[in-house]
Amino acid sequence: MDELSQQDVIITAALPYAYDDLHLGHIASTHLPPDILYRYLKLKGKKVVQVCASDDFGTPILIAAEKQGKDPKEYVARWNSRFREDLERVGIVYDLFDRTSSPENVELVQRFFTKLNDDGFIYVSDVDQFFCETDRKFLPDRYVKGKCPYCGAEEQYSDVCENCGRTIQPGQILKPHCSICGNAPVLKKSTHYFFRLSAFSKKLEEWLVGSPRLQGDVKNYVLNWIKDGLQDWDITRDISWGVPVPLKEAKGKVLYGWFDNHLCYISTALKAAGKSGKEGQEYWNGSTLFHFIGKDIVYHHYLFLPSMRIGEGEYKLPDYIPTRGHLLLLGKKVSRSKHWMITVREFVDHFPPDYLRFYLTRITPLSQADSNFDLKEFAEKINNELVASVGNFVYRALAFVQSKHGGVVPEPAGEGDEEREVLRELDQAARETGALIEEGHYDRALRRLLDFSASCNQYFQKKAPWEKKADEPTAIFYSCNLVAGLATLLGPFLPFSAREIWGQLGSPGPLDGEPWDSASRLKVEAGRRIREPRPIFRKVEDADLGKVRVLLG
Ligand code: 2FM
Ligand code: ZN
Repeated sequence: MDELSQQDVIITAALPYAYDDLHLGHIASTHLPPDILYRYLKLKGKKVVQVCASDDFGTPILIAAEKQGKDPKEYVARWNSRFREDLERVGIVYDLFDRTSSPENVELVQRFFTKLNDDGFIYVSDVDQFFCETDRKFLPDRYVKGKCPYCGAEEQYSDVCENCGRTIQPGQILKPHCSICGNAPVLKKSTHYFFRLSAFSKKLEEWLVGSPRLQGDVKNYVLNWIKDGLQDWDITRDISWGVPVPLKEAKGKVLYGWFDNHLCYISTALKAAGKSGKEGQEYWNGSTLFHFIGKDIVYHHYLFLPSMRIGEGEYKLPDYIPTRGHLLLLGKKVSRSKHWMITVREFVDHFPPDYLRFYLTRITPLSQADSNFDLKEFAEKINNELVASVGNFVYRALAFVQSKHGGVVPEPAGEGDEEREVLRELDQAARETGALIEEGHYDRALRRLLDFSASCNQYFQKKAPWEKKADEPTAIFYSCNLVAGLATLLGPFLPFSAREIWGQLGSPGPLDGEPWDSASRLKVEAGRRIREPRPIFRKVEDADLGKVRVLLG
């Protein structure tokens, strides 16, 4: 990541659909990894902007709003603020959490459409669409339900069967009926706009092959899709909720959600940075770009998104698309319909947010492998690593200051070999953890800090301040400084706890102002008064886990 030394950085996280709560899977793959990177880069003194938005448009959202008798605008606004609340509760605060329906995004999307259309990348073609004569409207996939032609399951949406998982082609669903009035729809021709995805095969291939920073495992199968041949892509819908197609003859048509949503990365980042027009473009093109996603939207981010940008020609392609797998719950796939899901708000009603950040970071690698949220392992990791290692060291050091020195950090007698050794380890931990973060391995980076925390405990154990009285002030003074170093390095991972540790140290300034590279400096001076120490973490007990089991029903 050497280019990060001069450039601006823009980080985006996949946009959640504005019709359902964020669950732990969203946090694990999509929102927490970028937040760690963002916090780290800021401590490294980089100019970094991190953005996200609610994904507002599309049929499922319109249907959900209609079901509640709400105007879709009002409906999505509610989700937007709910998302921001939930994310903030786990310490994830974007520079801007906007919406795909913002005027800036609508404008950018229409500009893209116009340019792509002018340059011949869009064409019209008639498609067979269900039409409800009672409601007098075309019915996109989700408005039609029927019997799955493969497994026979009833009441399935006309594009996909939730029972057998098969994709259903237009017109294939059996016994179709309108989900608004229940009557049988008829098939009617409708004019749709198509994006010539097939025209980009060569350019996409070149981009993938020539981008060593994209994940190899993902690239390989995307290259295979290209080899198999790319299908052009129907980018319009006959509904009222979406970005209107900016053509007189396309009245009543809107763009498909996947045409507009990823452009919101651009519109929102520029808005957050306060830039527009030429200046905005230069800012975007001069930045290192990260788009964090989960593996279910690889197709959209490795094919649609780049080909639209290549075709439009003004905004550069992503440098990194960190792609992570799903989070299973107790070994099973998350399912809304089967209520096998834990929402963010449910979880943080029961546990401190840093427990979630800690555990999810520990178990989520930079790969498409799925991770598994396991209750027993969750308790073990919190109790054995966070409580027994980090929490224990911090509390022991500060409790000594409190009980033996009246809450004032003692004067050391001098710096011996053991001190030099553990400070060297701190310096090394800072460098190696930083390198792992820059490579995207947040799980291993956190593991590295746990190793350092173990070294701190060993130092304390060796110094045995409870029996070696003459050396005790030195041991306590250096331990306080190790605590300060740990707080600095843990900040990106566990912002709430790191701030708490920093506060207990009686630090004068905010932790956010401490550069990453300052971690191994002696920051706690002798004579400083600390705050009354309290254990930072408490153990997860069986009774706590019981509450989570209840959430799963
Ligand atoms: O799959 C999803 O949840 C989409 N809402 C993600 C959109 S990300 C982007 F490209 F806008
Ligand atoms: Zn109808």
